[in-house]
Amino acid sequence: MTSRNSSDDRSSTLRHLVSIDDLTNEEILEIFAIADRISKDPSEFVSICPGQILASLFYEPSTRTRLSFESSMQRLGGGVISAADMRASSASKGESLADTVRVVSAYADVLVLRHPREGSANVAKRYARVPVVNAGDGSHEHPTQTLCDLYSLKVEKGRIEGLDVVLTGDLKYSRTIHSFVYALARFGANLVCAPQPGFEMPDYVIHRLKEQYRVEPHRVEMQDLSSIAPRMDAMYFTPERPHQLSLFTDIREVNVKKFDAVYVTRPQRERYSEAEKITNANAYFRVDRLALSGAKFRETVVLHPLPRVDELGYDLDEDPRSIYFQQAARGVPVRMAVIGMLLGKFNFPAAAVEPRARISARVRTTIECNNQNCITESERRYLNPEFVLASREPLCLRCVFCDAERVVEFVGCSSTRHYHAGASSEVNRIKAENLVAFATEEEAIAAGFTAAAIRGAGQTPA
Ligand code: NCD
Repeated sequence: MTSRNSSDDRSSTLRHLVSIDDLTNEEILEIFAIADRISKDPSEFVSICPGQILASLFYEPSTRTRLSFESSMQRLGGGVISAADMRASSASKGESLADTVRVVSAYADVLVLRHPREGSANVAKRYARVPVVNAGDGSHEHPTQTLCDLYSLKVEKGRIEGLDVVLTGDLKYSRTIHSFVYALARFGANLVCAPQPGFEMPDYVIHRLKEQYRVEPHRVEMQDLSSIAPRMDAMYFTPERPHQLSLFTDIREVNVKKFDAVYVTRPQRERYSEAEKITNANAYFRVDRLALSGAKFRETVVLHPLPRVDELGYDLDEDPRSIYFQQAARGVPVRMAVIGMLLGKFNFPAAAVEPRARISARVRTTIECNNQNCITESERRYLNPEFVLASREPLCLRCVFCDAERVVEFVGCSSTRHYHAGASSEVNRIKAENLVAFATEEEAIAAGFTAAAIRGAGQTPA
């Protein structure tokens, strides 16, 4: 396969915010410290970015995210250029995302991108000559919303570690949930996932929670949550830290004394298949005063990234437990801190400014990403699918753009030129750099590989 994918040398040294994992925990805390200072005395920050420009490229609707980014840049003394509806831009004439990003890089010092396809921000950062902020890419991630969510929890509860946080609603397509659970796990919170039936957390997110953050998932029956989601099947995720709850082997004994937070999400209907629209037409759960009347919710803060539809009762607006409007308001100081950080305006601890390399070696393959909404689907004129190894048993690849995982049916070894079934234990013997993944046996044969004889034990890796 020819390599059409290219990255610009200059862009590889830039700092971007595409995933919440582009920030270390120390950096996140530093962003919060700066946001605290901004909230106390915004006048100190009015001349941080004079003469600099933020460009908003929004291929999907937005109110809070776009306006709070633009407000933030203006409050830092910078200017804003805004493509609030990319349908009115050259994208509608068929311009590629890569070309748009290259061009707008010459007009601005930082790009804020929202796009309906998963992995789009990862593509944008390859072609941009300035920092890119992911303001939501399909159902994948929304890291700056997570910063607002986490900051709100920290301000209201004084800590994140050890909190019991209930995540409700559409956990499948809510990008805010995906970035948020990674961050909560990293900071040692316990996650209680209470999905709308049929809209459970995607496997790739659960896999990453387990593999990367060492959280232990358990299926639990939790009567306490029945007032929120009567038909739900809750999942409890316990990080390595704090340790106390990890001690439970029979998870049904887990008795959460009180819920510290409930994070409510709307049905992400714009991402639903036709079948899902029917499944979810009625009976989406609802959080209101009645649902939160139990003793365990007495000190529960209620978060929502907004906009709300019917899943969050208006009767909660005056309830002191509701913090969703403060959460939205905090978007300004938090995003001011993010912009300043990406433009090198604040002194972040030297050790922490190293870009976090999450990317491991690419696996050679001819297969496509099986996420129909991956950016590689719509930008295939110049973009090839790329994968890294997600796990060996079963052999599973992860798309470097959208993070979707795909189990591989056939695997070749470039050294022996043999191929094996992906589920075969023989695959464990192949060194990562020699792996070649195939969607079908015919593809392996067409590429010149031959079926492997069953090997005996004790042979060295190929
Ligand atoms: C969220 C989004 O766009 O993902 N909104 C936001 O940025 N505050 C949540 C949503 O649309 O449901």
